[in-house]
Amino acid sequence: MIEANVVILAAGRGKRMHSDKPKVLHTIAGKALLAHVVDSAKLSGIQKILVVYGHGGEAVPQAFAQHGTQFVLQEPQLGTGHAVQQAIPHLQNNSTTLILYGDVPLIQTSTIKKMLGAHNQLTLLTATLDNPAGYGRIVRDQNGNITRIVEDKDCTPAQKLIQEINTGIMAAPTHLLRAWLAKLNANNAQGEYYLTDVVAMAVADGVPVQAQQPSHPWEVMGVNSKAQLAALERAWQAEQAQQLLEQGVTLADPARVDIRGKLTCGRDVEIDIGCIFEGDVSLGDNVKVGAYSIIKNADIGNASLIHPYSHIEQSKVGANCRIGPYARIRPGSKLHNEVHIGNFVEIKNSEIAAGSKANHLSYIGDSNVGSQVNIGAGTITCNYDGANKYRTVIEDGVFIGSATQLIAPVTIGRNATIGAGSTITRDAPEDALTLSRAKQTTVAGWKRPSKKR
Ligand code: UD1
Ligand code: MG
Repeated sequence: MIEANVVILAAGRGKRMHSDKPKVLHTIAGKALLAHVVDSAKLSGIQKILVVYGHGGEAVPQAFAQHGTQFVLQEPQLGTGHAVQQAIPHLQNNSTTLILYGDVPLIQTSTIKKMLGAHNQLTLLTATLDNPAGYGRIVRDQNGNITRIVEDKDCTPAQKLIQEINTGIMAAPTHLLRAWLAKLNANNAQGEYYLTDVVAMAVADGVPVQAQQPSHPWEVMGVNSKAQLAALERAWQAEQAQQLLEQGVTLADPARVDIRGKLTCGRDVEIDIGCIFEGDVSLGDNVKVGAYSIIKNADIGNASLIHPYSHIEQSKVGANCRIGPYARIRPGSKLHNEVHIGNFVEIKNSEIAAGSKANHLSYIGDSNVGSQVNIGAGTITCNYDGANKYRTVIEDGVFIGSATQLIAPVTIGRNATIGAGSTITRDAPEDALTLSRAKQTTVAGWKRPSKKR
């Protein structure tokens, strides 16, 4: 098999984004535009990936230092043909070169494979549009063979009517591309070196020119403005929602769920409106996620219910748990099965064993909580002395009365009970009641202060 190289053009300015950030670093589904393209190329099995950058300077290579890509600077930017020329010395001669664009982010592996399906020819990715304005047009002869591409600004009135457009994406044998690019000139309306001029050169050389079409129209949509970025974000979210529906996930409204990463769902999962899933999230069978919940890099076990407005990040939730509404599970937390975390409860970096409950208004941080523990409303683990953090250990079967402060480091022994309103600074023994509270007194005849005249 012939090796494939990819050249990703990303040197353009992106003026219409009105942003100081290089265009290809703007995101769709939480991931940089360029990262979408690089990931699709890698998923297609392509090893050699070259990115041509220019505008935005070193910010682009810096952001991609870990991505296994090579960077080539194009300075100044004299057109798409000139951009590919910069990459040519770095390409393997006996390869097919595929040209992709950093601002056409949603190209899929199925389409990349189509583009690389035949060697010894020039393959163009084309699309037929109702409104082709602005794009290069595919010119064919009376036999339907492609003869050239004409840029919009160079079109005759008759050519303007052609609806088959150049998406810009093409593949060609590297040695031919090298020879054609060496012959480019800038004698055109824009005074640029057009990559598209290689089409007429291929025809002149008797090299077959074939067109392929993308599997989905959004694969070839480019981002030049915030409006296009938003439109493409919606297209991608709609696609992901469609895939979930096809897998049997119930979505209250496929237009009101956002997936910024990879969401894996078991059977009979239900997701209400306004939810956001980030990073790697997995939802077990029969999980229900309530409206406006945000779940990031987390595993939710079978049949757990996430009530509305809950945030869960970098944590593991067991089976049959009940979380929220308005709960916050912060990174490093592990909830075992049948744990209940109620409204306005924050859990951070804590392990909570099976069957334990913290149902109201609490903060549990840096703690190990045993099984069948009941944590009363308003309980706070005071884990931070202003400089260092300490752990709280609550053993199995403990009952913590409401509005208790546990000053870490502290251990509450098995089956202990803590009286409501206590401030616990020393370890509490097993099987006993511990409380720290001023005695209740009554002042008879007490008069409330009255306002001075
Ligand atoms: C290009 C195609 C046109 C096609 C259209 C699809 C050419 C001559 N024309 O036109 O046929 O219909 O894309 O959107 O290729 N870039 C560089 N360096 C440069 C110039 C551009 O890296 O010197 C990059 C840009 O960042 C961008 C891409 O190449 O990602 C396309 O450049 P752009 O100027 O938008 O080309 P179009 O005129 O739209
Ligand atoms: Mg363009």
